[in-house]
Amino acid sequence: MPAPSSSSSSLLDTGKGSKIERYNSYIRRVNSAKIMAASSKLLFRATLLTAVVLILLFTLNYPPLTTHSNAQSSSSSHRSLLSSSFLSSSSSSSKYSGAAWEKQVRNSAAPRRHNGMSVLVTGAAGFVGTHCSLALKKRGDGVVGLDNFNSYYDPSLKRDRQSMLGRHGVLVVDGDINDGPLLSKLFDVAAFTHILHLAAQAGVRYAMKNPQSYVASNIAGLVNLFEIAAKTADPQPAIVWASSSSVYGLNTNNPFSELHRTDQPASLYAATKKAGEEIAHTYNHIYGLSITGLRFFTVYGPWGRPDMAYFSFTKDILAGKPITVFKSQDGKEVARDFTYIDDVVKGCVGALDTAERSTGSGGKKRGPAQLRVYNLGNTSPVPVTRLVSILEGLLGTKAKKNVVKMPRNGDVPFTHANVSLAAHDFAYQPTTDLETGLRKFVKWYVGYYGIKSPVKNGGGGGHKE
Ligand SMILES: NC(=O)c1ccc[n+]([C@@H]2O[C@H](COP(=O)([O-])OP(=O)(O)OC[C@H]3O[C@@H](n4cnc5c(N)ncnc54)[C@H](O)[C@@H]3O)[C@@H](O)[C@H]2O)c1
Repeated sequence: MPAPSSSSSSLLDTGKGSKIERYNSYIRRVNSAKIMAASSKLLFRATLLTAVVLILLFTLNYPPLTTHSNAQSSSSSHRSLLSSSFLSSSSSSSKYSGAAWEKQVRNSAAPRRHNGMSVLVTGAAGFVGTHCSLALKKRGDGVVGLDNFNSYYDPSLKRDRQSMLGRHGVLVVDGDINDGPLLSKLFDVAAFTHILHLAAQAGVRYAMKNPQSYVASNIAGLVNLFEIAAKTADPQPAIVWASSSSVYGLNTNNPFSELHRTDQPASLYAATKKAGEEIAHTYNHIYGLSITGLRFFTVYGPWGRPDMAYFSFTKDILAGKPITVFKSQDGKEVARDFTYIDDVVKGCVGALDTAERSTGSGGKKRGPAQLRVYNLGNTSPVPVTRLVSILEGLLGTKAKKNVVKMPRNGDVPFTHANVSLAAHDFAYQPTTDLETGLRKFVKWYVGYYGIKSPVKNGGGGGHKE
């Protein structure tokens, strides 16, 4: 039998032990609750931190939700290429709506003569676009312009052209040909019978600096325009668009005929124009779009393009700065078939007047449609040195010439147009020689820039139209 003392002490011990155990388990519970609270706090903080880091990363890497039409920036062009539909839908829906805007578009698009056309002119604030829009409006056709006013050259010149067109009743909408919703909206509001598509990234040498801007405007933009014309516009419009003499590239047959090969472009600009001609073939073939491509040859004149030689020579000669005149790689004169703007305008209008209707609707071809390509040149090439001496005469100032070999950057040494096809089909006949045309250009130049002297035969007076 166990001793009572030992059994009572063991009872006592058991009582103490269970108290201690209860106390210990209480301490354990308190501790584990503390640990739980601490770890959930830690987890909460870690989650918060991760969320902040994720938001930061997302913000830094995601493209901005605004679109700016600036062909100068290759990154923006790249962006517009990759996500143009996303960007444009957010830009166009808010900007181009409302009864007042639609009324303006309808008014500008309405023809004022019997059987007049209603023409959407893209690139209307550009050099050729301004002149064509004005000519069409003056004879009673309806015209709405579209231009993104990019800064490839001084946008204030484009704004001045826009104001001038506005005074003649032509609305020029500020928008991009890659903006699908805007184009659809324009066709919703006005039933354009024709598109005169002149918007493009022009210039041969700039293509080495900003190649993506050529792809964005001359390829992606062209496809976007054809898509809307083929699938959305009802009825489908007939399209006349600007290709370029540069498609003749390394061709050495003269004068350049539409039958000559055009598969050796010398610049990316030329390649995009040639690609445009092939894309035109596709849209004509699949959707029945009536399409006419015009290969312009070095167009010049009042309201011209500051990046072109005749314009920059005038500026530099007047400023007493040296000008760079190119000779060919084999030391020969570089010559161009300089074509005066009024002759080109007549060619564009002739092409529009003879354009047949497109045959498709709603993205379905209903029959064969017209597909044409024409040269629009002057048919008489002039050496660039002669251009300089005419300018020297008109400006009454000797140029400081720096004659160098033409770098291999896309320019070709010689252009010469055979225009017999355009002459046959719409009586195209250039009538302005270089001296007469340059006189008109210089007269405009000194007036526009407010230059008083020492201009000969140039006039002046500072008015802008
Ligand atoms: N002037 C010439 O000697 C010549 C020669 C051959 C071909 N071309 C072609 O003729 C057309 C007109 O040339 P131009 O001399 O008037 O040039 P331009 O640069 O003065 O006109 C083009 C206009 O298109 C606009 N534009 C460019 N990309 C656009 C876009 N994505 N969306 C909307 N607008 C855009 C520009 O802002 C510009 O106002 C162009 O297609 C050009 O390639 C011109």
